[in-house]
Amino acid sequence: MSSARAVASTYLEWAKLCSAAKYNLASSGIMSYPLAELHISPQDLEINGPTVYGYAPLQERLARKCGVTPDCVVAAAGTAMANHLAMAALIEPGDDVLIEQPTYGPVLEVASYLHANILRFDRPAAHDFQIDPEDVARRTTSKTRLVCLTNLHNPSGALTSEETLTRIGEIAQKSGAQVLVDEVYLDMVYDQPVRSSFHLGNNFVVTTSLTKAYGLSGLRCGWILAQPDLAKRMWRLNDLFGATPVHPGELLSVMALDQLDKIGVRARQLLDTNRAALNAFFADRSDLDGFRGPWGTVCFPRRRSGSVDEFCEFLRARYETSVVPGRFFEMPDHFRIGIGGDPAMTAEALKRLAAALDEWGTARS
Ligand SMILES: Cc1ncc(COP(=O)(O)O)c(C=O)c1O
Repeated sequence: MSSARAVASTYLEWAKLCSAAKYNLASSGIMSYPLAELHISPQDLEINGPTVYGYAPLQERLARKCGVTPDCVVAAAGTAMANHLAMAALIEPGDDVLIEQPTYGPVLEVASYLHANILRFDRPAAHDFQIDPEDVARRTTSKTRLVCLTNLHNPSGALTSEETLTRIGEIAQKSGAQVLVDEVYLDMVYDQPVRSSFHLGNNFVVTTSLTKAYGLSGLRCGWILAQPDLAKRMWRLNDLFGATPVHPGELLSVMALDQLDKIGVRARQLLDTNRAALNAFFADRSDLDGFRGPWGTVCFPRRRSGSVDEFCEFLRARYETSVVPGRFFEMPDHFRIGIGGDPAMTAEALKRLAAALDEWGTARS
């Protein structure tokens, strides 16, 4: 990213205009959950409703899901708006904001848009993208106002342990900083209990949504978890943004939350199938290396022989298959594979990716 203030997202522009392909490994979410499966009727919907600072039935369900009180929940249009609103409430122009590297581009771009002074801490590929809290400590100063990370990590899918998060919380606390954790992928950790980092200390602020883990992106059901005073400040600030949400979206979100177990089971089954295909793909690939976690929709391998930009173009043009070039995550030797799609499509896409890598490697050896 250039040091000029961001007024657009290079990644989202690419994702919207250039990532579509018949065989899509570029998306990071679970494939769409069909509206018909929610079994609603038009009578369940209304155009207008009693929303003030939140719609009470939705606030209650989100609070219950997260194990918090409703006054800690600030509804937002997806994690995208949750991140913007949270940062806008937390950052003054010129504040030092410490952001993981690599990270999801819009996190950087929103901080830049808000005139933050952006500093970075490493998630080294060689250490499976794990955070070393002492690295965070070295880079935190009395001017640090906010530390930002994603958990699960986008682009790698790495999980950050509660121990590491707690230590980061303590480090931030010493300089009076908050820790913003984007947990949009966290509900896809199925085999071990994970708590939201919101429960790890008063200086944690969490953003998330039903988008990625449930295939419900179009509902835009996102939210922030923050201490009540801060949450109130965010609600008031939101009056300068969207002010009032789409009420049919709130109603549909309530219905989706009431059926979330079933929606989550479908996502898990889909991911189990696709992860088996992904593992089979990697078993034959000595030209790729890098960490692959057991959870989530994304992984971020490195092509041993260098930049992948041209390869990604070739893959799309010749094999009708898309992945996300690593340049969007400041790591041009890597590319991101997403496995949240339809299993038949994903299996075929991985086959095509393998064939493209073979052809590309042979042509250049
Ligand atoms: C880390 C991260 N945060 C936020 C978002 C946006 O999420 P939403 O669709 O809930 O707005 C994405 C989308 O890819 C993401 O990867």
